[in-house]
Amino acid sequence: MSQIKAVRGTRDLLPPETELWNHVEATARSVFARYAFGEIRTPIFEDTQLFSRSVGEETDIVSKEMYTWEDRARAQSEKAQMLTLRPENTAGVVRAYIEHKLGDSGLLQKFYYIGPQFRRERPQKGRYRQFFQIGAEVIGPPSAGSESPLRDAEVLEMLATFLDELGVTGWALELNSVGSAQDRPRYVQALREALTDVAPTMCVDCQRRAVTNPLRVLDCKVPEDQEKINALPKIADFLDDASRAHFATVCAALDACGVPYTVNPRLVRGLDYYTRTTFEFVHSGLGAQNALLGGGRYDGLSEAIGGPKAPGIGFAIGADRLVLTLQAQVTNAAGEANTSGLIDAYIAPVGEAQQAESLLLARELRRAGLHVDLGDGGFRLKKSFELGNKIARSIVLFGEEEARSGMATVKNFQTGEQAKVARSELAEFLRKK
Ligand code: HAM
Repeated sequence: MSQIKAVRGTRDLLPPETELWNHVEATARSVFARYAFGEIRTPIFEDTQLFSRSVGEETDIVSKEMYTWEDRARAQSEKAQMLTLRPENTAGVVRAYIEHKLGDSGLLQKFYYIGPQFRRERPQKGRYRQFFQIGAEVIGPPSAGSESPLRDAEVLEMLATFLDELGVTGWALELNSVGSAQDRPRYVQALREALTDVAPTMCVDCQRRAVTNPLRVLDCKVPEDQEKINALPKIADFLDDASRAHFATVCAALDACGVPYTVNPRLVRGLDYYTRTTFEFVHSGLGAQNALLGGGRYDGLSEAIGGPKAPGIGFAIGADRLVLTLQAQVTNAAGEANTSGLIDAYIAPVGEAQQAESLLLARELRRAGLHVDLGDGGFRLKKSFELGNKIARSIVLFGEEEARSGMATVKNFQTGEQAKVARSELAEFLRKK
């Protein structure tokens, strides 16, 4: 029989790597809670239109990367519905905001999410077809202050705090403003005009983008095209006064709290819903897929999918890329997450008669918070030592003599030290080791 493998672009995450994932997620929950964010969980699939109307029909994501299928109609009178595995989570969060009339409270809504997203991209290091995002969104009626540049700066400052707390070094924040919904078409028009002469001399992708989605030309990485792209019109020159002032306030607030950034006039991002502030945190250790996270403001998104005016700003961290970054650097984070994979103790029942009592001993230690595994009374001592040495820092022998005396024999594999320890003191003893 042929073997069945995980689908291309998907992967299994196994221990001890999952320890690091849990540590990253726990740190996110802890940091985001301090900034008054609450968790939201939206469905993994949604009506296809949600994504075409928010992310945008012309984007790479919607035009070629979505996993979409037709859901069979239940009755003949019913129309079949097109469904899509979510390629991102902002659209789902804004849909939920509208559906639950969360704007009616008059308050700012602050959500975070952790979960899988799906895009049919060409798999490579740091790019998968099922990947995980840790994201957050701030959204609400303008009267709640949702348009304020302070929100943008606060979100960016939170991200810097999160990465610092995880011990990620070497990140860089790139920032830009793509202007209001009115600024953007004027810029796209200017770009289109400038590209009519230049595009034919550029790479084939740029030639296509010049027609379909001129903004994407700015993303081109082909070395020969760079000079030509740098000479194209800059979006900063097309911002109206309000957008310009908004961006200046974001920058001033970041300066005030010491979050370093660089303005990258070419950062326009690959999703259509963005307005004004856009950003990415990049990391040079990631190679071609260097964006650790991305985000920005989406002041018109709610209205585009049938909701009330509800400006917002948010981001999504590529958790796969964050874990790759942490694995590549020796950090406190990796240490704290116990990625050695070693548990505290391996209990070896010596003889089958001691099995039940050994299970009780394991129960006591586990209830005391220790990470413990239990062997088998049928194993020879040599085998127990070999197994224990692979998975635990110490082995606890529990045979007839130990049962009688109430003392356990403990050997620490790292130091080679052996000791007899009273059962009542065993948890404390192992914890210190
Ligand atoms: P995005 O830039 O498409 O934005 O994705 C955010 C991050 O997800 C990227 O920076 C990257 O780290 C990670 N990512 C994207 N695609 C893949 C992939 N195929 N494999 C691994 N990681 C990937 C959004 O998704 C927006 N919803 C962010 C946002 C939230 N904007 C406002 N609020």
